[in-house]
Amino acid sequence: MSEFIVNGGKKLYGDVTVQGAKNSVLPLLAATYLSNSECVLHNCPRLSDVDASVAILEHLGAKCRFEGNTLTVDSNGCFSSDIPETLMREMRSSIIFLGAIIAKCKAASMSLPGGCELGPRPIDIHLSALRQMGAEIECTAGRLICTAPNGLSGAEIHLNFPSVGATENIILTACKAKGTTVIYNAAKEPEICDLASFLNSCGAKIKGAGTPTVVIEGERELSGCVHNVIPDRIVAATYLFTVAMCKGAIRIKNAIPEQIFPFCHILQKCGCDVSVNADSVTLRSHNALHNFDVVSSGPYPGFPTDAGPSLVSASCLFKGTGVFVENIFDSRFRYVDELKRLGADIKVVGRAAIVTGVKNLAGAKVEAHDLRGGAALVSAAVAAHGTSVVRNIEFIDRGYENIEKVFAQLGAEIKRK
Ligand code: UD1
Repeated sequence: MSEFIVNGGKKLYGDVTVQGAKNSVLPLLAATYLSNSECVLHNCPRLSDVDASVAILEHLGAKCRFEGNTLTVDSNGCFSSDIPETLMREMRSSIIFLGAIIAKCKAASMSLPGGCELGPRPIDIHLSALRQMGAEIECTAGRLICTAPNGLSGAEIHLNFPSVGATENIILTACKAKGTTVIYNAAKEPEICDLASFLNSCGAKIKGAGTPTVVIEGERELSGCVHNVIPDRIVAATYLFTVAMCKGAIRIKNAIPEQIFPFCHILQKCGCDVSVNADSVTLRSHNALHNFDVVSSGPYPGFPTDAGPSLVSASCLFKGTGVFVENIFDSRFRYVDELKRLGADIKVVGRAAIVTGVKNLAGAKVEAHDLRGGAALVSAAVAAHGTSVVRNIEFIDRGYENIEKVFAQLGAEIKRK
């Protein structure tokens, strides 16, 4: 088990190029399984969740090759359709392979993703949509057995919640189904647009990604393509919130401004100076910051649930009281008790974290329990005076490429042990 040792309390200054988005690259990797030739993904982050997806692809028969941050996947001729439990357990979001496998092989067998660190992770929306497209699905002894004896057909699918993963699974399946699929109340996250843009480059016909209605024409032959993974907006948020709380200045060199607007808007209201250019964002934090009023997480373009922990962590040092309401996942506040060890003043009431800013945080030993909560603890440790130890950093490696190197480059004293 590795840990970070942090000597906190320093101001942070510098430029950062944000890694490729984990939540984009995972569905993109599933999508490569549908292609009949080589796909090249540039700006592919080196993360343990990416390694887990590559292990699944290799198990399915694909050839994968990493050169720096470029990943080449060739799934030509692969028709394996089962994922063993050991590989499914590596990564909860492996359910994203369901749509691609059933589309290509007309059958799929994999273990159920089960619960995760954030609470139950139901997949009823995914399964109901695939059934509407002709899939027959049985869940026995913790395994999903899916077949499509009469093939898959396009359908009009109304989602009762704009689930990101379900929207992605439907898009993947619909590319190969007979006829046209229309998704109503689809997720509008930038990662959905990235998936559609990748698939369209491969020869798919997907319209409306990023809006509530996505239309996919089926029975497309998909070839390979070269694609740049979009920058990770959640990682960008972590760095912006950390510099806000530590004081200093950061320029995010490859930001997509509209994707990080929710963070910049809040930080500006709290007293940071934010300037946005076409492809970069600069944040300066020199004055005393005051807390936001209430921020609630919600589907895009709302405030992302994944950025909640970074926001709460930063607000521990903002003057006054701020309330963060978590609307997407049930058990997302485990990091709060750890922030309290660093001296934070936070009360959790139901879905709300009520934060009253303190003057300083003080170094302590803390434990990550999940990916985003873990990153928020690293931010707090970087801001806290004195020495902190952040344990269980394997969670953080699932989604952050060398977080310690980025903070060190900004002037923080942090090392991995
Ligand atoms: C994706 C992201 C995750 C992010 C989340 C919400 C990836 C790999 N992960 O997860 O980081 O936090 O979007 O932005 O992209 N739900 C159901 N039934 C379903 C599916 C979802 O009830 O069949 C519920 C979930 O329990 C949750 C909510 O819907 O409460 C949102 O889930 P969803 O949008 O599907 O998130 P993921 O795709 O799992």
